[in-house]
Amino acid sequence: GKVAVLMGGKSAEREVSLMSGQGVLTALRARAVDAHAFDPAEQSMDELKRQGFARCFIALHGRYGEDGTVQGALELLGIPYTGAGVMASSMAIDKVMTKRVWLAEGLPTPRYALLHRGHYTRNEVRTIPDELGLPLIVKPVREGSSLGVTKVMGYSQMQDAVAAAAELDADILCEQFIAGDEVTCPVLGEGVSARALPVIHIVAPEGNYDFQNKYYTDDTEYRVPCDLPPGEEAAIQALVLKAYRVLGCRGWGRLDVMIDAATRLPYLLEINTSPGMTSHSLVPMAAKAAGIDYETLCLQLLAGASL
Ligand code: DAL
Ligand code: MG
Repeated sequence: GKVAVLMGGKSAEREVSLMSGQGVLTALRARAVDAHAFDPAEQSMDELKRQGFARCFIALHGRYGEDGTVQGALELLGIPYTGAGVMASSMAIDKVMTKRVWLAEGLPTPRYALLHRGHYTRNEVRTIPDELGLPLIVKPVREGSSLGVTKVMGYSQMQDAVAAAAELDADILCEQFIAGDEVTCPVLGEGVSARALPVIHIVAPEGNYDFQNKYYTDDTEYRVPCDLPPGEEAAIQALVLKAYRVLGCRGWGRLDVMIDAATRLPYLLEINTSPGMTSHSLVPMAAKAAGIDYETLCLQLLAGASL
């Protein structure tokens, strides 16, 4: 039957989603799937039913796409979709809720403080570096692709960093900075049959893997197979699998991890339940290293579509 590739949407990552969706659409068509682009920012979700779509490939990123809202609509419409269900999606979009679950399960994640737009004092903001150390990271709780993220080097930068994050979300996460290796690891599948793909070591210019270096420059180096010391890759894979399972994810996900340079201990930053599928994106890279090409990956994800 007809497949809708949900792409675009109305989050700050709309532009990235359009690139991901175009890639998926092209790949599915190349494998003879009757795939069509569908932008929920332009069309009402019930059009999916009216137009006879049998399944959806979700290539939306951020809110209203990766956060359980679209998944909930598809549940009501009875149309199977790729990726995590409603609850896992809505927990995973929220970096603080995710941390709470991981911490409750004894999984390592950097220390943090949470601020609410309009409800914090200058003094509260000033004391955060004392708690978390410097540098520290300030980011919106529910965004992706490093949008609204600042690496704060000194006290004087705090107010601007918090204001920048607050432009994108009412909840603002201040997070301990882990100096070390930035790695990412995708997971495919569900529950006990979920599997981790190879780990990618990301080496960005000046350690700055920001929006520009994610999608528009070719200055970021992606090491896969990775160059971590023996045993570390397997340890990261075991950690991300646990982190994926405790959130109840299915289909796929990609977990971003920092490895402390001094202790070599890994810290989970977040999970993306609708990871990028652009030409610069990481899941396709890791899949390729595992012998799964982009088209096969798309087909495999689509085959896992469920309600
Ligand atoms: N949020 C972007 C799309 C990613 O994680 O790949
Ligand atoms: Mg993300």
